[in-house]
Amino acid sequence: MTGQMEYIAALPGAAGTTVTVRGWVQHVRTQGKVAFLVLRDGTGVVQCVFVKSQVTPDVWERFGTLTLETAVSVSGDVRLEPRAPGGAELGASELTVLGASPVDYPIQPKEHGVDFLMDNRHLWLRAPRQVALMRVRHEIEQAIHDFFYARDFIHCDTPILTAAIGERSGLFSTEYFDEGTAYLAQTGQLYGEALAAALGRIYTFGPTFRAEKSKTRRHLTEFWMIEPEMAFYDVHDSMQLQEDLLVYIAQRVIERRRPELVVLERDVKHLEAIVGPFPRISYTDAVATLQQKGSTTTWGEDLGAEDEALLVADYTTPIFICNYPKEAKAFYMKENPEDPRTVLCADCLAPEGYGEIIGGSQREDDHDKLLRRIHEEGLEVDAYGWYLDLRKYGTFVHSGFGLGLERTVAWLCGTPHIRECIPFPRLMNRLRP
Ligand code: 4AD
Ligand code: MG
Repeated sequence: MTGQMEYIAALPGAAGTTVTVRGWVQHVRTQGKVAFLVLRDGTGVVQCVFVKSQVTPDVWERFGTLTLETAVSVSGDVRLEPRAPGGAELGASELTVLGASPVDYPIQPKEHGVDFLMDNRHLWLRAPRQVALMRVRHEIEQAIHDFFYARDFIHCDTPILTAAIGERSGLFSTEYFDEGTAYLAQTGQLYGEALAAALGRIYTFGPTFRAEKSKTRRHLTEFWMIEPEMAFYDVHDSMQLQEDLLVYIAQRVIERRRPELVVLERDVKHLEAIVGPFPRISYTDAVATLQQKGSTTTWGEDLGAEDEALLVADYTTPIFICNYPKEAKAFYMKENPEDPRTVLCADCLAPEGYGEIIGGSQREDDHDKLLRRIHEEGLEVDAYGWYLDLRKYGTFVHSGFGLGLERTVAWLCGTPHIRECIPFPRLMNRLRP
């Protein structure tokens, strides 16, 4: 009797029946005449119990040959077991080896250095913690799509090979036939603005690239960013949308990824604390606070990671820091009519020291002011003709923001370094596997 094929996650609903599950051996243990196999199939883990007197000698012997990560199929009776991780256990009767795994599987149940684990990222991904991180990442991506779909935003894809530089950070470039230099997109925003004039409210969700020579725990050279762009939203409307989005994402993770949070040893109270309204603090006030706290940052500079950590230390929710000095930010941000030294922007900083997860702004909609900023920044005007056209033909108040996916995953999962929050991280010193 092998019964129906089931995924491990579905086992509680199959209690009392005989089923077959397929997966990889995560752990084996023998206790006299009873043997235990913990099996992983991606949907969950289940303990399969082999009782010597109840299985054929063949099966018992085969169990003895199992090594870590052997691919197997196991048939048996499903029993509800409240103490088991998934709520069910398998009383095993059959065992078939589908794919052997030699005893030298590199990742053993002991401490390994991070470099070693990263060299073996293709295998490390199978570890329970990594599986949990990928499942939370997926939930966050899906929550983002659901959030915007429910609000009638249009999901648009923007090019990765571009001629127009979007941000100030490092660029990856390549020769592009007879067209000169192409850059890997640092942002989809400029194209998002063109799409917003066509479709009203849009978002992009794609990989972005920064050739930053920064080896920090929150910088990747390739990361995923979600960039909404909204016609007729000012910077305040945009902040409200950001707040609603982050609260929604946190709720979804709490509701649907609790078992993963347990694996990650993440206290849900940190996620439950993510409720609006998030404080909105001006850059000028933030600098004053920082100086009181002993920082040497002066008005005019962008805020560094340490400054951000000092600022969020007083809060359990994310906070917005608004209206940075013009020279600290990108050329496309709208000049603040109340203080032209500053721009209408806001960075959203996550609590617990995670720092900037969103950068956003109202966009400069005045053609001539924008052109002046392009010149001031030394950008090649030719590459921005189309972008200036958006201010020539029916210019419009509009705002948008960029949410870094990996930083959001790291924060919600309580993971110190973002390199574990993407399947195959690209860092300055890491291009393989
Ligand atoms: O603040 P940034 O550079 O903003 C933009 O790119 C705008 N074009 C967004 C917009 O208004 N449409 O980046 C936005 C976010 C950051 O807050 C951070 O979460 C993430 O992208 N980010 C990175 N994440 C990982 N590694 C890096 N090197 C990152 N650089 C930015
Ligand atoms: Mg930023």
